[in-house]
Amino acid sequence: MEFLAKYQQIISQEIDSNSFKQKPSELYEPLNYILSYGGKRIRPVLLLLAADIFGENLAKAVRPALAIEFFHNFTLIHDDIMDEAPLRRGIATIHSIHGISTGILSGDALLIKSYRYFEELEPELFKKCISLFSGTGEMLCEGQQLDINFESTDSVSFEEYEEMVTKKTGVLLAAALKMGALIGGAAAQDADSLYNFGINAGIAFQMMDDYLDVFGSQEQVGKRRAGDIYENKKTILYILALQNADAQQQDELKYWYSKKTENTDKIYGVEKIFRSTSADTKTLEFIREYHQRALESLNESTLTEEKKKPFRDFAHSLLQREF
Ligand code: IPE
Ligand code: IPE
Ligand code: MG
Ligand code: MG
Ligand code: MG
Repeated sequence: MEFLAKYQQIISQEIDSNSFKQKPSELYEPLNYILSYGGKRIRPVLLLLAADIFGENLAKAVRPALAIEFFHNFTLIHDDIMDEAPLRRGIATIHSIHGISTGILSGDALLIKSYRYFEELEPELFKKCISLFSGTGEMLCEGQQLDINFESTDSVSFEEYEEMVTKKTGVLLAAALKMGALIGGAAAQDADSLYNFGINAGIAFQMMDDYLDVFGSQEQVGKRRAGDIYENKKTILYILALQNADAQQQDELKYWYSKKTENTDKIYGVEKIFRSTSADTKTLEFIREYHQRALESLNESTLTEEKKKPFRDFAHSLLQREF
């Protein structure tokens, strides 16, 4: 993504120059490790883009952008403990190398550090950003708890799924955009349109993440393939498969999701049902639907067509996973 390269560069430089040097190194080194392997850094890039478009006030947005990326990494460290994930960004997860206690603590430290990056904002903006940030964090915890609850429930409705992904994924993307808009001095209505754009793009993004868990490659995704099936996650693939399955397929699906096993027959069996019920192609249709909704939200802003374009291009490349 050519036009985003300058933002990526800023984030990358800031992460390097803010690497942790404190002691005990057992707490901080795992953070330098996970942050140095990058990831796509879409949230801080969105924040910088929004601040740039609304107010050409990039410098002021840099530290809040770092806060968002640190916060995101905190959620991943804890998510990998909850999801028993061995791999992220193509490397071993923190808890799988250093144990669960270090995973919990280093995640906590990163969360707390993230708040420091707002300290330099003027009082009014500080209050708005902190309130948005904390509200987002609360919703994210709720979404993660729903995700865990659903592991042990076999029928989850589409509406319940939508609430879960809105909270665990949508709100952070949306908050990054809204915060950038606020820092750039956008009017409240525009900041809200951007927020709604982020919610819908975030839902589509999580659906694509669910899809790639099964139908992507480990090299491309950097995570253990089919991790969601091992963990009985109620992803969009599962929900659509169950809706479209015949009685025998429903029984088989529920049978596999009633047990946690490393048996690869489970992966083959479930994947086969995902394909034969067309849950795979239906998921791609839903992704297009939420992508479309994101564009409609963007159109509610007062931005000129020229200024909407980078957000549109971003949503497009995000769902193609072009970076
Ligand atoms: C992973 O987020 C968690 C989800 C919301 C699917 P990303 O896919 O943005 O992870 P990184 O930061 O690029 O590794
Ligand atoms: C993403 O959930 C939400 C958060 C990490 C907060 P996932 O569990 O699907 O994310 P990945 O697939 O591990 O990145
Ligand atoms: Mg998870
Ligand atoms: Mg996970
Ligand atoms: Mg996932």
